[in-house]
Amino acid sequence: MKIMSVVGARPQFVKLGPIVRACEQHAELEHIIVHTGQHYDPLLSDVFFRDLGIPAPNAHLGVGSGSHGRQTGAMLAAMDGVLEEYQPDWVLAYGDTNSTAAAALAAVKQHIKLAHLEAGLRSFNRRMPEEHNRIVTDHVADLLLAPTQVAVDHLAAEGLAERTLLVGDVMTDVCLATRDAVRDDAVTLPAGVDPEAPFVLATIHRADNTDDPSRLREILDALKGAPVPVVLLAHPRLAALAKKHGVSLTAGSLVASEPLAYPQMVRAVMAAAGVVTDSGGLQKEAFLLETPTTTIRTETEWVETLEDGWNILDPGLTQLAEVMVRPRPEGAQAQPYGDGHAAEHAVQALVDRA
Ligand code: UD1
Repeated sequence: MKIMSVVGARPQFVKLGPIVRACEQHAELEHIIVHTGQHYDPLLSDVFFRDLGIPAPNAHLGVGSGSHGRQTGAMLAAMDGVLEEYQPDWVLAYGDTNSTAAAALAAVKQHIKLAHLEAGLRSFNRRMPEEHNRIVTDHVADLLLAPTQVAVDHLAAEGLAERTLLVGDVMTDVCLATRDAVRDDAVTLPAGVDPEAPFVLATIHRADNTDDPSRLREILDALKGAPVPVVLLAHPRLAALAKKHGVSLTAGSLVASEPLAYPQMVRAVMAAAGVVTDSGGLQKEAFLLETPTTTIRTETEWVETLEDGWNILDPGLTQLAEVMVRPRPEGAQAQPYGDGHAAEHAVQALVDRA
């Protein structure tokens, strides 16, 4: 039996790690990895393959950056050849990027069974490209592997209950295993930031926060005025836009750094007094690592993180100065993201339905 994983962007490499391990437990299974090339910078791609023990991709589509239509279209066209060559029993699409939607459409058009990992998440914000990608993928997929009960409920509301299976969240599998492995490691921070003193870790990369220069300036100004140092892990998209608009990423409390590799990222989140982000994955990782988070968005797909105030939404930046460093909520944390074996449940589901 052949499963083809199609990945292309940083969060998908993280999810692929535990799926690789789970596939290795099935001797009869051939796991084919296709990299679309959506992310190509070594810090966004190669380091994840290396640190998460992922074998080199069987095929690399080399698509690179572009407008949404061009990028998605180029992947869709390039997928035909690899599907014809490998003839998988299942295509596994991950999350909500342009690579996800392209893999999904390419598979169903060749009548190959499609499973969607991380199905059923919704922001209900139709401005987000990720929202289009997830809706399209869920509605064409044969098997919807949902990470949470909330996701299961969204799929049922859209008439997709029969194709849905709750498996848990694969990012939780890798996040918790990495936490245990890096606990005693040194924290990687830019020179001048003391890991023993309180600091905030920040990432900003969503189009709604970066593309309009006045919005970007407003967010960066709020971080520059923070009461503690803010380490900004700058995605190349942010670095490029800041340069274009003449906005500095290192000033006041703000210190820019390159993106971190996954183990160093987890270690830094564990050490941080707070996280400020607009990333979906990082909100949830910070929750799992018990670091209070402030999310610069109007909504979140991971609504469970909002319970007890672990995560606070502050799109208007009205509370940021007061809440970006705050005490951890008291009491035991809920565990809405599965038992740490989601990848095994997901792969077993595909094997059972070969
Ligand atoms: C993509 C996903 C987003 C995910 C994010 C994780 C979509 C629509 N968005 O956003 O859901 O949270 O990945 O990082 O698929 N760039 C580089 N080097 C790279 C890749 C990109 O410099 O290796 C720059 C280019 O200027 C490019 C821009 O980043 O135009 C945006 O890249 P793109 O892949 O379109 O989307 P992301 O913002 O990375």
